[in-house]
Amino acid sequence: MSIDIKKYEEEQIKKIREVVGESRVLLGLSGGLDSSVCAALLAKAIPEQLFCIFVDHGLMRLNEGDEVEAAFANRNINFIRVNAADRFFSKLSGVIDPEEKRKIIGTEFIRVFEAEAKKLGKIPFLAQGTIYPDIIESGGKNNHLVKSHHNVGGLPDSLDFEQIIEPLAKLYKSDVRKLGKQLELSDVIVNRQPFPGPGLGVRIIGEVTVGKAAVLQQADAIFRHEIDILSERPSQYFAVLTDTLSVGIKGTTRTHDAVIALRAINTEDFMTASFTRIPFDVLERVASRITTEIPQVSRVVYDITSKPPSTVEWQ
Ligand code: XMP
Repeated sequence: MSIDIKKYEEEQIKKIREVVGESRVLLGLSGGLDSSVCAALLAKAIPEQLFCIFVDHGLMRLNEGDEVEAAFANRNINFIRVNAADRFFSKLSGVIDPEEKRKIIGTEFIRVFEAEAKKLGKIPFLAQGTIYPDIIESGGKNNHLVKSHHNVGGLPDSLDFEQIIEPLAKLYKSDVRKLGKQLELSDVIVNRQPFPGPGLGVRIIGEVTVGKAAVLQQADAIFRHEIDILSERPSQYFAVLTDTLSVGIKGTTRTHDAVIALRAINTEDFMTASFTRIPFDVLERVASRITTEIPQVSRVVYDITSKPPSTVEWQ
């Protein structure tokens, strides 16, 4: 059943104003579609009362932190960007185990968020960009936790809020995109593909370092650019920095550098997915650009496994 988005926006704005009154509202903004649309809706309803905390963990895609900040620059809200990359990289130093990396990123995210929220004093309302499928997947209406898998660790109980508001809770993803457009969010935000909470942390195999993140950001940006100019785009597409070093040859010199894997999938629900049949000439261009533009990379491979047996992400 299609939903009247204009009407939904008006109803929610009215409801938010009624519920919130003069109080302040806190929102953890990840830059993903849902939290961004939630922020834009609240910004329209109660601009000066809205406090958005955006934790930049340094594991975003190339320029993403600035894009998120720019998207909210003219909305008259209280936008707090915390550049916490140093903290995350130092905690991740020497850690190889994927689950441990996720845990560290999740815990650190909460610590940074909490410390920032504390500075603002008591804020009675917490807004979340929970959407309808999140409620279904997390087991029913009264369970307000967004799937832990999809939220960097979730937010802590110690942040003592009187009430949680979830103005997108009746919407499917496609409606959220429509609402985002209606609220004049840029295409970069509205068409954003899913991006894991722990960010590039799950796409750098092995130890995460500043240098590796920079290599992956560049490779990923090249791949995304070459896909974005095609007429049809996969559901999700990104680069992975493997922990394999491979022999290559540049000029007359033999090299021993990193292997980048490219992943692109088509899916309806992300529970199962098929790898995308990207034309070889596109893959060739991407591989050529990555190996010429990024000196630390010697080889590019394309992942041709579907889900199952492989997951979408490599970690
Ligand atoms: P998998 O790798 O489980 O991915 O096949 C399915 C979808 O979930 C995303 N994903 C995550 N999202 N935190 C998130 O917020 C995570 O830790 C995480 N791991 C996977 C993945 O990008 C894909 O869209």
